Amino acid sequence: MAKPYSVSRRTVLIGAAGLAATATLPAASARGANSSPALRLTAAPARVRLVGGAPETAVWCYDGRVPGPELRLPQGERVRVDVINGLPEPTTVHWHGIRTPNAMDGVPDVTQPAIAPGQSFSYVFDLPDAGTYWYHPHYRSAAQVGRGLFGAIIVAEREAVAVDRDVVWVLHDWRLGRDAQDQDDFGNMMDASHAGRLGNTVTLNGQVPEKFAVRAGERLRLRLINAANARIFGLDFTGHRPWIVALDGQPIAPHQPADGRIVLGPAQRVDVILDMAGEPGRAYAVVDGFYARQAYRLVDLAYEPGAAPRSGTRGSVPSLPPNALAEPDLERTERHAIEFGGGMMDPKMMRGGMGGMMGMMDRMGGGMAWTINGRSASGHLHEPMLSLRTGRSYLFAMVNDTAWHHPIHLHGMVFRVLRRDGAPVPRPEWRDTVLMAPGERVEIAFVADNPGDWMFHCHILEHQEAGMMATIRVA
Ligand code: C2O
Ligand code: CU
Repeated sequence: MAKPYSVSRRTVLIGAAGLAATATLPAASARGANSSPALRLTAAPARVRLVGGAPETAVWCYDGRVPGPELRLPQGERVRVDVINGLPEPTTVHWHGIRTPNAMDGVPDVTQPAIAPGQSFSYVFDLPDAGTYWYHPHYRSAAQVGRGLFGAIIVAEREAVAVDRDVVWVLHDWRLGRDAQDQDDFGNMMDASHAGRLGNTVTLNGQVPEKFAVRAGERLRLRLINAANARIFGLDFTGHRPWIVALDGQPIAPHQPADGRIVLGPAQRVDVILDMAGEPGRAYAVVDGFYARQAYRLVDLAYEPGAAPRSGTRGSVPSLPPNALAEPDLERTERHAIEFGGGMMDPKMMRGGMGGMMGMMDRMGGGMAWTINGRSASGHLHEPMLSLRTGRSYLFAMVNDTAWHHPIHLHGMVFRVLRRDGAPVPRPEWRDTVLMAPGERVEIAFVADNPGDWMFHCHILEHQEAGMMATIRVA
């Protein structure tokens, strides 16, 4: 097999300092005044060391590494990414959270034919919003993302945000055997009808981490990305008080979560400002305690010894500059009720007796476990669940009528989260993926300002493939 093309971290730092990259990259045909040099990503099998001291793991990934290259680009630019498929099966790339034109959304059979093995596809799109995003396949996502195909795409604000370091933590979850190989059990009904494929090994930037080195007094911008198939993270930074400054890439009024915990459902991102107020030489655990009785230490923040270079008091945390998003007109929204159903311990089945039971058996016979408004989608191409008019405001009154969490993602547009269980959210919030607890009601609103057929699905990838997906048409 050909050696995968690899770009060094530096060559993808596009901008004034990144021009050296053009020598080794193909010229962009789509280059205009505001275009970045073309980038290239090759999806292919590789072997990487996820666990120190353990054998290498056979993975599928971009450019031979997990996560794939961190793409860092300036807001407002047009980017071109040539994706080469070196996998033994088709693939696509979806730019999660970036408001691309529909044709660049990477959804097989809907926005493009899947890229066949040995073929390539050029994605060209603008970067309207600064923030933290990620890319991943949308073809057999559970297996392809699960095996390591994911990476961060960071869109830098026009004016630099004042921090000492800007760091990305891409989190993923693997189900490894004792030989450190991924257990090839994607798509089984057990995972699909429960919490999804939870693994046994969590990696941070592709490694089971021991420590993350910090210096007393420095201010970090930490961009957390949950690239796991199914695992929800609830991170406690012991001894520290992180400030949340952005959710799913979109700025939010800086605040500290009431219980100190940073929660990320699959596909969600949280940007935090972290002032390193600990003592030099000490280590502080970052603990993931989302699942009751299964808390574990993700990593230690390890302070370098020696005196603090700064006083440690950094004053207030500034708000990030907002992106230009259309505010939904809440006086004039058209309201749609959306119900998520199915799964094991289905409340409807408990309530409805045999009828509900038969429905579940039927679905599971066909590999489906979940529904949106009573329907299970198999594959991406299907009749739209809703047709929306371009430019109008919509409110989705969503109810999670299941016994499980679901991170619900809309392609193409971002939405306001308005209310949870009837109570207004404490501060205005934009999202592309909203985590719904079992039984929870969530209201979201948005302007349907991006025409096309857009996927609307649970981002627990096993749930998505077992029917928890629908199409929203904007025309
Ligand atoms: Cu992150 Cu439909 O995807
Ligand atoms: Cu789900």
